[in-house]
Amino acid sequence: MALIKKMSATQAQRHRTHLPDSADDPRGPHFALHAQGLGNERAYDIITSELLLDGSARLNLATFVTTWMPAFAEKLMAETADKNMIDKDEYPQTANLEARCVNIISHLWSSPESDAATGCSTTGSSEAVMLGALALKWRWRERMRAAGKPTDRPNLVTGANVQVCWEKFCRYWDVEPRLVPVEGDRLHLNGEEAVKRCDENTIAVAAVLGSTFDGSYEPVKQIAAALDKLEADTGLDIPMHVDAASGGFVAPFIQPQLEWDFRIKRVQSINASGHKYGLVYPGVGWAIWRDSAALPKDLIFDVNYLGGHMPTFALNFSRPGSEVIAQYFMFASLGFEGYRRAHRRSSDVAQYLASEVAKIGPYELVSDGSELPVFAFKLKPDVTNYTVFDVSERMRERGWQVPAYTFPANREDLAVMRIVVRAGMSHDMADFLLDDLRERTEQLEKLPAPLAQIEHERAFAH
Ligand SMILES: Cc1ncc(COP(=O)(O)O)c(C=O)c1O
Repeated sequence: MALIKKMSATQAQRHRTHLPDSADDPRGPHFALHAQGLGNERAYDIITSELLLDGSARLNLATFVTTWMPAFAEKLMAETADKNMIDKDEYPQTANLEARCVNIISHLWSSPESDAATGCSTTGSSEAVMLGALALKWRWRERMRAAGKPTDRPNLVTGANVQVCWEKFCRYWDVEPRLVPVEGDRLHLNGEEAVKRCDENTIAVAAVLGSTFDGSYEPVKQIAAALDKLEADTGLDIPMHVDAASGGFVAPFIQPQLEWDFRIKRVQSINASGHKYGLVYPGVGWAIWRDSAALPKDLIFDVNYLGGHMPTFALNFSRPGSEVIAQYFMFASLGFEGYRRAHRRSSDVAQYLASEVAKIGPYELVSDGSELPVFAFKLKPDVTNYTVFDVSERMRERGWQVPAYTFPANREDLAVMRIVVRAGMSHDMADFLLDDLRERTEQLEKLPAPLAQIEHERAFAH
C-alpha cells in the first residue's frame, strides 16, 4: 500500500535507470540506499535545497499548529532531542516536567485534583482523543456488564463538524459514530440535537472547543444541561469529553468566564494540543481526566523493563521528550500573563482581519475570530464568476496558504476560506495579507464571465 504520494513516471524512470552507487552522484536516494553515503555536508545541502519547495510555515494560515517559538525554546529542544519520553527511569527529571505540565494544565481547566492530577502527554490531540474516548468506552462497558446488558453496540455522539480523529476513533475501536449534521446557520453541535441521538449505548457526547471548520466554540455548558435533563427524565447518565485541541489553551486565558471545562461536572476528560495554542512545535498533546476515578485502571500498563515500575497510558511507546520539555519551558517563560498577552494579540489580529475582509465587498463572515483567533468567510450569493477555491489558489501564488473547503453534511453547499491566526502573525503581516487579498479579489471581480468558462474556452482555443 502506497501511503505516500508517488513520484511521477519520469522521475521514477530517471532514478531506476541510474541507481547511483558512488558518492559522485549528486542526488539523494529515492528507492534504495546508495552503496556509499553522500556524507553529512552533501546530504544536508541536498535536503535543505529540496525543502525550499515546501511552503513557508509562517505564511501557512491553514494550520493551527505552532510555527514560531522563541530562540531559547529552539535551543532547549535541540539540546534535548535525544531524550525519549518513555524512558522515565533514565530521564526522571523529564518525567517530572511532564507531571508538572499535567498539574498546570489541570489547574487551568479547573480540575478538582490539580495538585496530583490524572493525565499524560501524547503526540497530539488525535492520540489524546483516542485515550479519552477509550476510557469512556471502557467505563460504559463496565456499566453495561454490571447491569447484565449487551456491550456490542457502543455509539458516540458528536457534531459532523468534528475533526477526523473522532471518526478514526470510531472506526479503529468499533464504535458507531452518531454525527449530528450541521443545519442552516447552526454550524456545530447543540444540546437539543445531541440528546436526540443518545441512548443506553452512548459512551459519551464529545463537544469541540472550537470547531476546526470555523473556530466557533460548541456550547459545552448548554449540551451538559441538556444531558442533565435527559438524566432527570430517563435515568440515562451520559458523560462528556471536550475536544479542546485549540480552545484548551485559549479560553482559560482570554475567555476565563466561559464555563466549558471541569467546572461542568459531566465533563470527564479533556484533550488539547500543546503544539497548537500551547505554543510548542509539533508534536505534543495532553489528555487530562477529571479525577483518577475517570480513568479505568486496566488501561494503564505498568512496565518494568526500563528499570523501575512505570505506569503508561499511550498508543506509542517511544517518542521525543523535547516537546514536553519545550511545553514546560513555555509555561515557565510566559506564565499566565504571557499566554494571555500572546493570545489576546492573536485574537485582536484575527478580529481586525475579519472586519477588514468583510469590508472588501464580495465576502461575508461565517465567524469573526472572537472565540478562537480563527475565522471563516464565504462569497456572497451574487458572486458567480469565481469561487473561494479560485481566491485560495491566487493567494497561494503570493505564498499565502489560505485553505478553501466545504462544510460537512448537511451544509456541503457552504464553501468557505479560513484564516488561523497564531503567535508570530503581526498586525503588519495582517496588513500585507489584506493588501494581497484585496488586489486578487479586484482582479477576480473584473472577470467578464465565470472563470471556469473562460478557462474552458482558452483550453479549446489552444
Ligand atoms: C478540534 C480538533 N481536534 C483534534 C485535532 C487533531 O489534533 P492533532 O493535530 O494535535 O492530532 C484538531 C486538529 O486540527 C482539531 O482542530
